[in-house]
Amino acid sequence: MKFFKLSDFDYTNKRVIVRTGFDIPFDDNGNITDDSRIRKIMPSLKYLLKKNAKIIIISHNGRPKGKYIAKLSMEKVGKRLSKLLKQKVTTLDDCIGNSVRQSIEEMSSGNIILLENLRFHKEEKSKDKAQRDQFGKELASYADYYVNEAFANAHRKHASMTSIPQYIPSCAGLLLEQELKTMGKVIHSPKKPYIAIIGGKKADKIEVINNLLGKVNKILLGGVLANTFLKAKGYNIGKSLYDKETVNFAKKLLKERKIILPSDVAVGDKYKNNAHKKNVSIDDIPNGWTALDIGKKTANTYCKLLKGAKTIVFFGTMGAFELTKFSYGTKQLLKAMASSSADTILGGGDSAASADKFRLENKMTHVSTGGGASLALFSGKELSSVKALEDNYKKYRNKI
Ligand code: 3PG
Repeated sequence: MKFFKLSDFDYTNKRVIVRTGFDIPFDDNGNITDDSRIRKIMPSLKYLLKKNAKIIIISHNGRPKGKYIAKLSMEKVGKRLSKLLKQKVTTLDDCIGNSVRQSIEEMSSGNIILLENLRFHKEEKSKDKAQRDQFGKELASYADYYVNEAFANAHRKHASMTSIPQYIPSCAGLLLEQELKTMGKVIHSPKKPYIAIIGGKKADKIEVINNLLGKVNKILLGGVLANTFLKAKGYNIGKSLYDKETVNFAKKLLKERKIILPSDVAVGDKYKNNAHKKNVSIDDIPNGWTALDIGKKTANTYCKLLKGAKTIVFFGTMGAFELTKFSYGTKQLLKAMASSSADTILGGGDSAASADKFRLENKMTHVSTGGGASLALFSGKELSSVKALEDNYKKYRNKI
């Protein structure tokens, strides 16, 4: 893996476009509930400020599908960023167009501009490469250099990740570099037994399970993915969330003995802390109820399996850990990881947030900022945006 590093370019008075992973959660009142993805990229921003760069920050938040959605605006992120950096950050109301260009042209060294959510434009995620490239080319035209500091989105083939590096010299930010290095060590020579815990709310993780099967000793399932497998097995899962599109794929994986499913779940009659809660066997999920955690028996079985492991990777919580009433399974597993002598890696997003909630973050070997990205990495997939940085290096190595 050879790509430019942050220290390879001279930024004095230059415009630098920094792609960050400010895809962060807000509560119902629009307050940021976890700013770790902002805090963790401070070293790169401070480095660029010290080098007298003009910094243009870009990011997405959520999945707005090409439309403006007020609660996914970058405005609050800009305010938090400004507070953390103790300097002014100007948040613009779009990410392309003449007024954006004009604001960028008026920048002085040491200024920071944060552009509006990239995914408010459908071109960012377009399936049509030409459309993505056109959007990426416009973004690239704002700057002399590009920094990829969005590890959480590194697996996505989106305009701001893979198109911009086609046009200007591009490098990895300090966090991206560190994530790849730390996890790379475990990926290349994992100590066995090696157990992966996979849960969370996004069922598209199923694609990488196939790849992981050849590498790990066991995969313990929870969350939406477990519900999808239970559905595939023919169980009544009540109102539990599952992914319709992947049920057939899950059916094909059912005979895999390495995949362990919950034997019981904690169900609630609503998604609230004051919900009625029952611990039921998987063949006894009542109609109208929702599985919001793995059950007590399952948590016990999973913790026993973790005892002998030498490498444990955790991608996605076992349920609605944010509701204290349904956080038992996630907490037990995290506690088992924290007290184990295994190499312990946590994916980003909710996995990191849950460890933070239970104050177990510092007890892990590595807590990544990326969930889907780290899972893709562990399953042996090439990260599209890292490949784009490698191609960029080949293009510019004799010109810098
Ligand atoms: C993440 O949080 O995993 C990244 O920001 C990617 O988000 P996405 O799954 O919506 O592409």
